Amino acid sequence: MNQTVIAIDGPAASGKGTVSKAISEKLQFNYLDTGKLYRAIGAKYLEGFAPITAAQNLNSNELDKYDLQKPEIAQAASEIALIPEVRAALLEFQRKFSQKTPGAVLDGRDIGTIVCPDAKIKIFLTASLEARAKRRYVELNKHDGKIRFETILDQIKERDERDQTRSSSPMVAASDSKIFDTSDLSITEAIEKVFSYIQEKI
Ligand code: DC
Repeated sequence: MNQTVIAIDGPAASGKGTVSKAISEKLQFNYLDTGKLYRAIGAKYLEGFAPITAAQNLNSNELDKYDLQKPEIAQAASEIALIPEVRAALLEFQRKFSQKTPGAVLDGRDIGTIVCPDAKIKIFLTASLEARAKRRYVELNKHDGKIRFETILDQIKERDERDQTRSSSPMVAASDSKIFDTSDLSITEAIEKVFSYIQEKI
C-alpha cells in the first residue's frame, strides 16, 4: 500500500525546513530534507570530487558529515543540481524514502512535481526575497558576525534564478499544490497554518 507522502517545496529560506520538520514530528512521520542531498554533493564537488560519481555513491551516513549550512555549499549545491545525471542518481533514494512507514514528509524544490507526483498532500511555501534574505541573515549572523545582508540577498536571488530556470526539474509549484506565503508569518504561525491544512486533507 502507498504511504502518505507530504511534499513541501519552495525557495531558499521560505521556512520549508522548519515547517516540514515540525509537521513530521506532529504526525510522527519520517522527514527528509532533500536539499541536504544536494548540499552533500555540493560539498564533495568543492573538495574536488566529480558530482555525478559523488551522487551515484552517496552514503546517507555522510549527510551529517559536512557543515552543510555554509553559503558556499548552498551555492555549489544549486550548481550541481543543474546536472540531470546528479538529479537522476538522487531520485531513487528520495522515492525509496517516501515509502517509509507510517508516512513521510519530504521538502525540496521538485518533490510535488517530479520526485513524488502522487503525493497525497502538496504544499508550496514561499515568501518575499527580502523576508527570506532577512531570515537567512539572522541565522548566519549567529555564526559569522562579518556576514553582510546584501551578500545574502544577492546569493539567494542568484540561487532562486538558477533553481527556477534550469531545464531539469526546475523549481515550480505543482498545479495541485496549496501555496502559502510566509512573508508576514512567524514560524509558529506558518506551522499552525500548514498543519491545519494537512489535518483537513488527511
Ligand atoms: O533547500 P536547500 O536550500 O538546502 O537546497 C540547496 C540547493 O539544492 C538548492 O538551491 C537547489 C538544490 N535542490 C534541488 O535542486 N532540488 C531539491 N529537491 C532540493 C534542493
